[in-house]
Amino acid sequence: MSVAITMIGTGYVGLVTGACFAEMGHDVICVDRDEAKVELLRRNVMPIYEPGLAELVSANVAAGQLRFSTDVSASVKGRDAVFLAVGTPSETGSGRADLRFVFKAAFDVAMEVDKPTVIVTKSTVPVGTNRKLANLMATDLQPRHRVSVASNPEFMREGAAISDFMEPDRIVFGSDDASAIEVLERIYKPLTDKGAKALVTGLETAELIKYAANAFLAVKVTFINEIADLCEKVGADVEVLATGVGLDARIGKAFLKAGPGWGGSCFPKDTKALIATAQDFGSQVRTVESAVSANDARKRAMAGRIASLCGGNLAGKKLAIFGLTFKGGTDDMRESPSLDIVPLLQALGARVHGHDPSNPRSLSTDLPDLIHHVDPLEAVDGAEALVILTDWPEFRSYEMSAVAKRMAQPILIDTRNMYDGAAVLAAGFKRYYPIGRAPV
Ligand code: UGA
Repeated sequence: MSVAITMIGTGYVGLVTGACFAEMGHDVICVDRDEAKVELLRRNVMPIYEPGLAELVSANVAAGQLRFSTDVSASVKGRDAVFLAVGTPSETGSGRADLRFVFKAAFDVAMEVDKPTVIVTKSTVPVGTNRKLANLMATDLQPRHRVSVASNPEFMREGAAISDFMEPDRIVFGSDDASAIEVLERIYKPLTDKGAKALVTGLETAELIKYAANAFLAVKVTFINEIADLCEKVGADVEVLATGVGLDARIGKAFLKAGPGWGGSCFPKDTKALIATAQDFGSQVRTVESAVSANDARKRAMAGRIASLCGGNLAGKKLAIFGLTFKGGTDDMRESPSLDIVPLLQALGARVHGHDPSNPRSLSTDLPDLIHHVDPLEAVDGAEALVILTDWPEFRSYEMSAVAKRMAQPILIDTRNMYDGAAVLAAGFKRYYPIGRAPV
């Protein structure tokens, strides 16, 4: 049965969630205060890069299941559920999530609804936020119509967001209010009917599940990265090791891919917020604290590693980088390892040329001194080394013999272990340096 849903915020989570709810048969309005963005969305121009999203949005707009609006007041009337998917940026210095947008949106919604409505927090918010919201509704705000509060954290990955949403490992419904849970169960019925597991929890548990899951994954990646360093020292192979360790069902093989360090809009923000929350409650998450500092150090150390593999002196040398975003399949530069590594290489005197299949739009402000090339061959022309920083699958289909031919020194430094060393040498490279395994 169709549920009337309004989504406040058309950022990553809001837009994908809204489009997926529409696809599941619900009647969805996506609201954003940014008029220019809403205008573009109405013309099916996506503000983010996510495979399959434009098609999903246009099909559901055409089917009358999905609309866009800038008007909160009109868009929350007559709805069953209003989801909050507004930003929660990290406060500079403290690492705490800035909740101004969440509270403002919740208050605006509560004062404008014209029937009992569930406010569902999709944004990642610190433990205690939803309880605070529920209490404020009951005491200070006292909206004219009953507003219940629920937490429904999101677990989708950029680049795989639609399939992660439609085929979730689990769905978390956090609320103390039976009517809110009932609405959430109706919304997700198309997925639970197909076997998705739904977990009903209290507000605090739902909020903490999100942080704990992201922090655990970040710790897992940090761990394999440190083991990769050890592999290099002792002559072991991290790829084979990850298979050997990951086949233990208690560990699992996912997120054991060594690399240049994790980034993105979620792991850095959520790990810092979890550390801050623990401190607020007189507790400590030392594993997460050390993962954050090990990861920060790793991203910086990558520049030194690249310099020493290039013979130590980078002054005046041209370096080429393939992959600038925080991972393949996205144009998102937030907290990308390249943001630490490229400026350090430039400080050592290198002229850095880059190529990223997504041609990230924030590149000119994020890495102003990097010269970006849409054509990978132009990026490597005359370069002393090629460095792979992001795991874009397309890199594997590039003609590596043509790449090697254009370089001054055909050296490949692969921080994502994307290639087979023997094939790289056969393509004309002189040296291949992977991560956590022997160079060839
Ligand atoms: C992450 C979580 O995976 C999602 O479940 C969660 O919903 C999302 O955050 C969020 O909170 O919104 P995302 O940030 O899109 O998703 O990216 P991931 O695919 O998790 O990758 C995070 C970072 O870890 C990237 O820099 C990636 O390159 C790195 N990584 C990941 C590795 O270096 N090795 C791995 O094995 C896996």
